[in-house]
Amino acid sequence: MTKATTGMKGDGYYDAHSSFQSDVAASGAALLKQAVDATRLPADGGVTVADYGCGEGKNSMAIVGSALDLLAGRGATEPSVLHSDLPTNDWDSLAANLSGAGSYLEKHPNARALFAPRGFFERVTARASVTLGTSGSAAHWLSRQPAGLHMPDALYRSDAPPAERDKILAQAASDWLDFLTARADELQPGGVLLVQMLGSDGNADPVRVSAAGLLKLMNECARQMIEDGDVPQDAYAAYCFPVVPRTIEEAAAPVNGPLADRLELLHCGLTAVPSPYHVALEKTGDVEAFATGYTAFTRAFSETSLRQGLFSTGKGDPAALADRFFALMVEKLTANPGDYPFDDLTLAITVRRR
Ligand SMILES: C[S@@+](CC[C@H](N)C(=O)[O-])C[C@H]1O[C@@H](n2cnc3c(N)ncnc32)[C@H](O)[C@@H]1O
Repeated sequence: MTKATTGMKGDGYYDAHSSFQSDVAASGAALLKQAVDATRLPADGGVTVADYGCGEGKNSMAIVGSALDLLAGRGATEPSVLHSDLPTNDWDSLAANLSGAGSYLEKHPNARALFAPRGFFERVTARASVTLGTSGSAAHWLSRQPAGLHMPDALYRSDAPPAERDKILAQAASDWLDFLTARADELQPGGVLLVQMLGSDGNADPVRVSAAGLLKLMNECARQMIEDGDVPQDAYAAYCFPVVPRTIEEAAAPVNGPLADRLELLHCGLTAVPSPYHVALEKTGDVEAFATGYTAFTRAFSETSLRQGLFSTGKGDPAALADRFFALMVEKLTANPGDYPFDDLTLAITVRRR
C-alpha cells in the first residue's frame, strides 16, 4: 500500500509557507464559536481539545488558542490538548512552537499538551475522551493511492476521466467514513468536532473543485518532466495527487447514513477563502513575489507526496527532481501569472456525538 503522504515539508518550511491554511482557520472563527457553544462540557470542568492533522503547529497554536479562550469563557479549567498527526510529521517543530512566542501556553499556562503520532483514519486516543475536536486543511488527504488507477494525462479529481474519478471518489468516501468513525469513538457524549477541508460545489455547472487551477499547473510541470525523461509515464499514470475536495453531499453522507445513530450534523457548508498570493499580486503587481510565494506554498504541502509518487520512481536524484519541478512552476507562473487561479471553496462540517 502506498501512503498518500508522510507529512508536510519540515524544519519550519510548512509553517513559513502556509498563510492560506491560516486564512482558512480564520474564516472558521464564527463556526468555532458555534462549535464550542454547542459542546456539552464535563461537569468537573476538565476538557480535552484534539487537533487532527496539526502539522508543524503554527496554525494549530492559533486554532487551539481560540478554542481554549472560548472554552475558558464557558468555565473550563485545566484543559488537555492533543496534537495528532502522522508519526512522520515534524514533531520537533511542533514542540518548539509549543514553547515559543505564539504558543497558547502563554495565555493558558494550566493547559497540558499531548502528542498523538498516529494517522487519523483510525482512533488516535482513548474512547469517549475528546470534548472538542478541530481539523484544519488536513482531512482532504487520502489514506493511500486509489488501487488500479490509470490516468495517463491527469493528476486530480477535476481532470480525471469518469472511470478513474470513480476510483478516486470511492477511496475518498471510504477514508472519510473511517475518519468520522474514529472521531465518533473518541468524542465524549455531547462532544463536538469541526473539520475544515477543501470543497467542491459538485452539482453546479461548471463544477468548481478547490485548487483545480493549481493542479492544472502541477500537471503541466509533471508532463514536461515526463517529456524530458525525468519521470516515467507509467509511474505518473498510476498516481493521483492524493487530495480530494468534497461536496456538501459527500461530506454529510456518513452522518446522514451509517453514523446517524452516533453523530448529529450541526453544520455543513462552503465558504470561498481567497488565495493570499493572488490577493497580493492584484495589490502590488509583483509577479516575482507571487510566483515564488505561490510555489513555496505548494511545495510545503506537496513535495513529500510528489517525491514518493513521481520523483523517486525514475533514474534521477529525487531531491534534484523536486527542485526542477518547483523551478518549472516558478517559470510558468512568471510567464502567465493569470492562468492558474487557486479558486478555493472551503468545506466546513460540524458534528456532535450523540
Ligand atoms: C496542510 S497541513 C495542515 C496543518 C494544520 N492543520 C494547518 O491548518 O496548517 C495537512 C496536515 O495533515 C496531515 N495528514 C495528512 N494525512 C494524515 C493522516 N492520514 N493522519 C494524520 N494526519 C495526516 C499532514 O501530515 C499535515 O500535517
